[in-house]
Amino acid sequence: MRIDVYFTPNSVTQKKVEDCQVVIIDALRASTTIVTALANGARAIIPVAETSAAVEVRAKLGVEHVLLGGEHQGVKIENFDLGNSPLEYTKEVVKDKVIAMRTTNGTRPYTMLRYNRAVRVGSFLNLSATVKYVCGNGADLALICAGNNGDFSLEDTLAAGAIIDGLADSMVCEIALNDSAKLAALHFNASRERLLATITESEHGKHLTSLGFADDIAFAAQVDTYDVSPRFEGGQISIADPDDSSTDDTMRIKGLEL
Ligand code: MLT
Repeated sequence: MRIDVYFTPNSVTQKKVEDCQVVIIDALRASTTIVTALANGARAIIPVAETSAAVEVRAKLGVEHVLLGGEHQGVKIENFDLGNSPLEYTKEVVKDKVIAMRTTNGTRPYTMLRYNRAVRVGSFLNLSATVKYVCGNGADLALICAGNNGDFSLEDTLAAGAIIDGLADSMVCEIALNDSAKLAALHFNASRERLLATITESEHGKHLTSLGFADDIAFAAQVDTYDVSPRFEGGQISIADPDDSSTDDTMRIKGLEL
């Protein structure tokens, strides 16, 4: 299996990911929040590029079914129901809801490319489930880090390295890493005993701490809290049947039509 890491979505092109399975990583905080919401019973997440698109999703599906979630500069968007703190996405709040979500970096990779193959959501919280899925799928892998406003981000690269490390332990076949993937693996190996400290010391970690979100960082640094591998398909992210690696693009939110 060839594994390519993209430090930011800007370095990805349609052609580069065309034949790959893809894992999209935004450890602080979008992937962590998406995984948490779905593990807590949300029906689906609809990632959107603009605030107005989230409002449109709610108008189409019905106010009673949809929560608006996301952030601008780290804080809840005006008139949205939820921010981007995974701790807000409790069972009581999200169960059976569809969440239209807009964040600065983390929702962008879902909306900027057309994917031909499986796309999964990667975070520390669902590390082993991600590794298990990728192994079972077997296709070459693109790990797309959401990054930080177009720049490299330490925490997403760390999570990419953790996935590579897990794959290196579980794969029966050879894995071949591009240079970015080698660096991600080195970064993870150097920091594996101090994940929380490394994430806290990252630029975005410091920014979130300054906004009062230190608890989110501690939450996001947990490994294997949830045994789920959410799948992005047909514009929606939901918890996939673990044995289903189909690339059928016709999935619908049960009972709701977009
Ligand atoms: C993003 O998508 O840019 C992040 O998830 C920002 C955040 O921490 O809220």
